[in-house]
Amino acid sequence: MTVETLVTLSAATRDLSIAATAGALLVIAGVLPVGHAAVARASLIARVGSILWVVGAFAHSLATYASIRGALPDASRFIEEWWSYSTSVDLLQAYLQVLLAGLIASVLCTLVRTPALAAWSLVPVAWALGWLAQTGHAAGAADHHLATSAMFLHLAGATVWTGVIGVMVVLRGVLGGTAKDAMIRVSRLAIWAAAAVIVSGIANGAIRLATPAELWTTPYGRLLLLKTALMCVAIALAAWHRRVALPRLSDAAVARRFWRLMAVDVGALVAVMGVAAVLASTAPPVPIEALAEPSPAYQLTGYALPPAPSFATWVGLWRLEIIAAFVLVALAAVYLIGVLRLRRRGDAWPWHRTASWLAGIVLMLWITQGGPTVYGMVTFSGHMLEHMLLVMVAPVPLTFGAPITLALRALPPRRDGSVGPREWIRIVVESRWMRFWAHPIVAATSFAGFLIVFYYSPLFELALRNHAGHLWMTLHFTVVGYLFVNALVGVDPGPTRPSYPLRIVLLFATMAFHAFFGVAIMMSTVLLAPTYFGLMGRTWGPDAITDQQYGGGVAWGIGELPVVLLAIGIITAWRREDAREVKRRDRQADRDDDAELRAYNAMLAATAEEDAQRER
Ligand code: HEM
Repeated sequence: MTVETLVTLSAATRDLSIAATAGALLVIAGVLPVGHAAVARASLIARVGSILWVVGAFAHSLATYASIRGALPDASRFIEEWWSYSTSVDLLQAYLQVLLAGLIASVLCTLVRTPALAAWSLVPVAWALGWLAQTGHAAGAADHHLATSAMFLHLAGATVWTGVIGVMVVLRGVLGGTAKDAMIRVSRLAIWAAAAVIVSGIANGAIRLATPAELWTTPYGRLLLLKTALMCVAIALAAWHRRVALPRLSDAAVARRFWRLMAVDVGALVAVMGVAAVLASTAPPVPIEALAEPSPAYQLTGYALPPAPSFATWVGLWRLEIIAAFVLVALAAVYLIGVLRLRRRGDAWPWHRTASWLAGIVLMLWITQGGPTVYGMVTFSGHMLEHMLLVMVAPVPLTFGAPITLALRALPPRRDGSVGPREWIRIVVESRWMRFWAHPIVAATSFAGFLIVFYYSPLFELALRNHAGHLWMTLHFTVVGYLFVNALVGVDPGPTRPSYPLRIVLLFATMAFHAFFGVAIMMSTVLLAPTYFGLMGRTWGPDAITDQQYGGGVAWGIGELPVVLLAIGIITAWRREDAREVKRRDRQADRDDDAELRAYNAMLAATAEEDAQRER
């Protein structure tokens, strides 16, 4: 067996083992009833899968090093050399991270019995996929950020899809009466995973093929076609399952055929994973070549310097960030499915909340895919605008959309002791940890305080230079903004909201802090992230420090609009509450013949009587 074959085989083993581990953990976390017999079998699969993951990852890293080295030195020196490469060379460092994540997962999987621990044990899986996404052809691709994002989404989708379907086939003998419900839940998960695989697969393919014709004229393209064909077989089988067999799973004959075809389905997906491993070691038609003379902007951002900013470029320049785009479109789709479900049940949902949510999603799409992201990578002022839109502006319409309230109303509760989406939302929202961060004072402090922490710590450069860091910043500031706005004017459950006057005080105190931060930046002559913005080599706009001072103005200025909107929101809610209180008191007065007023008058009369007595 050649070293190259060993590389491909160990990569396939590693990827399939990660899929088996992730599939078993997902099934425990969100499909099977707690304490069901199948849980023990699923955690056994997770344990075995994570051990095979470690073996596959280790073999793959050794084989990759051997293929790089070209010759096999004697054993003692080989491991030594492999280790020093694994701690110094990007590619092998990534494989070492995948191996370490496997070791951590294999320890956690020995303890997994509950949905909560199964969910936490998915963290090393995501970590490993994050590192894998930065290897292979994605590493040197022209649009590096898109290539790694698309690869992460692809690997995550492929891992979930193959994992949950594969694990259910292994568990079929112990599912008993829960088989039908479990399969319905798994097929929903598989649909989302398949959507992620297809969208990111097309993006991956588009990066590596120069023309569609290369799909059938190149070995790489033909492998892609084979993958797509196998995937279509899997999708066709899955569609048949859902439509024909699943509703009649209680029928023994149908069940036998169902599981036989499920095994074929899994076989097709495993075959796709195998083809994918071959694809990863096949040269793509678009050669991976480093630019001969990359500009400073290209070296820092991975992209050419965008043109000087204008209204046209702010609205016309778009750069696909596929993970954010996929998540945002999915959030819009899930929200609309929830509204339709309420409608079908005859329950109303205010149209302005739906409109507000969708407006927030559209705004987020522009922030994460358009001008704010493009200019946020090359200028401080652009970055500050992106940041302020994320933390101050987009959370306002998103919060008015009341997503948690809709989810808790639209999602059916599980009755078999399993933990579904509705139960998970409640677990998170009602957790002590979330209650702490959602508390109005804490939400206001993190809303304002994180500004300082972010800009005056290495986090800022991490978000500028590292794509995963940038995605973390996007998520973090949007959530911090949502928690703050929800504490002041939201209806979603979570925070114990203070009185209206205190909310107004909280709002203005927080905004004053923001303004103070903005002014401090405007006055500052010390460049933040100097080896980034200072070396960008921009051919347009002011110098870096002046641009930073503009950024301070943005931080100060952009806060005004949300403050006005939130203040109006608080006062409107206050007045509504007052009106409701008046109505309630009126109804009470009608019911008890105004007992409260009479009691009050009686108290006044008694006081007057006492006073009169005392004066006598
Ligand atoms: C629309 C169908 C699909 C397309 C167009 C597609 C395309 C791609 C492309 C272009 C790559 C990058 C290969 C490279 O490194 O150059 C890739 C990798 C990969 N694909 Fe797909 N794919 C599709 C479906 C699937 C499915 C259904 C699965 C499994 C369920 C899958 C699993 C994988 C895996 C595991 C890798 C990473 C291979 C590695 O780096 O070791 N793909 N895919």
